[in-house]
Order: sequence, then C-alpha cells, then structure tokens
Amino acid sequence: MDWDAQLYDKSHDFVAAYGGSLLGLLPDRLDFVVDLGCGTGALTGPLTAKATRVVGIDASPDMIAQARLRLPQVEFLVMDACEMPWNGCVDALFSNAALHWIEDQERLTATMARVLRPGGMLVCEFGARGNIGRLRAAFAEAFQTALGSEGLGPAYLNSERFYFPSADEYAARLARHGFSVRLAEEYDRPTPLKGGKEGLARWMSQFFAQDLDCLPPAAQENVFSAVADALRASLWDGGQWIADYRRLRVVAVKH
Ligand code: BEZ
Repeated sequence: MDWDAQLYDKSHDFVAAYGGSLLGLLPDRLDFVVDLGCGTGALTGPLTAKATRVVGIDASPDMIAQARLRLPQVEFLVMDACEMPWNGCVDALFSNAALHWIEDQERLTATMARVLRPGGMLVCEFGARGNIGRLRAAFAEAFQTALGSEGLGPAYLNSERFYFPSADEYAARLARHGFSVRLAEEYDRPTPLKGGKEGLARWMSQFFAQDLDCLPPAAQENVFSAVADALRASLWDGGQWIADYRRLRVVAVKH
C-alpha cells in the first residue's frame, strides 16, 4: 500500500515512541541487525548503537525515502520482508508495529528463520488478538454504509486482513519454524491519538487509506463522522481519542 510518510512522522510518531522500550530487549554489541518494517527509521538510528551493521527494510518506497533523509549514513532498502536475501548470518531481527501488515505469515516466518544465524534473535512487537477491535468494527460498518450510498457493492476490507494473533498462536508458529520462544505476551495499550478531535480521522486516513481510497472525499468525511459517533462513548476521553491497541511482544531465539 502507499504510505504518507510525512503524516506518519507528524501525527503518528507514537508508533516509534512506544516501540523504544523494545530496544532494551536486544543485547548490545551485535554484528548484524535488520530492522524489519523500519518505516521512516525512527528506531533504526538507536539500533546503530547496538550493532556494527544495521539495515532497515520496508516495502514502502515513501517510507524508505523519508528514512534515508533522516539517517543518510544508514543502509535502507525497499524490500518485501518475505524476500530478505540473507542466509544464516543475521544476529537479530527487530520489528516494531510492522508484522501485522504482512499477508503470508508462513512465508515470513520461514524467511525470518532462514536469515537468522543459529542463536540469532527475533525481537518484535505488533498487534495482538483483538487489536483495534472497536475501531475496526465501527469502521467496517460505516464504510459498508458509505459504499452503499455511493452505489458500490459491499467490499472485503483490507482493514479486516491484519494478522493479530494470540501469544499462544504466534509462539506455536515460531516453534514450528525452529524458534525457542523466550517471551510472548499480550497486553492492552490504550493509545492516545494526536490532533484532538481530528485525531481519529487522521488515524483512519493513514492506516485505512487502502480502503478509503475508493471513496470520494465527501463520502470519506461521512465515514469519519459515523465512526466518531459510534466510538465517542468508548474511545473519546473529553480531550483526545484513545485507540484500543493491544500488543503482542515476542523474544525468540533461532536454534
Ligand atoms: C497497529 O497495531 O500498530 C496498527 C494496526 C493496524 C492499523 C494501524 C495500526
């Protein structure tokens, strides 16, 4: 999908701010670390303090362009994570808020197992079972209504396709691919959105863009209003929107 890398940095920098604590789960003094789904590189910079070589990869050319501007001295590559070219030589794979976007999780897990050296580590965090459950349900309803009003048929939503597994489900997947799981925990992380009243619409514009793109601007505004109406009682705290994020945090070692 096409990403608005500037909106991402301006309004959704909480993604990296929360992910910062993940860095502490990686050992220091590594040789080769890959930041998988690095986005605009906000956590790739801090990673360079831990490893001799750090490569940030992302499928979005816009994100990688922004990352290169931010950190010209770091290696960034536009790349599908399922096609990482390394074999048994990566010390650690680090990934924050990215794995849920990847459709073929079996292929991804096999690829992660292939690129890591024996003893190499996966440290990642992404959406857990139930992540943005209220947001997705309200969006799906408002979106299907808007499609009907535009004379379009019901659609199978991209925003329904995210991979949000339970800790047990993901640990079992990793185990099947030769990982020893050291940590797999799910937790609620209610997440304030920047921008006051506008925060929810901005969040949808960024993260549900793939769905919204087929609607004209006025119909998109109708979706934003309907979602806000549906969620005001549960996700508006009087000054800001609080997204119902749930996270899955994992540390696993390739044997
Ligand atoms: C997240 O959990 O980081 C996320 C998942 C899907 C859309 C937007 C954010």
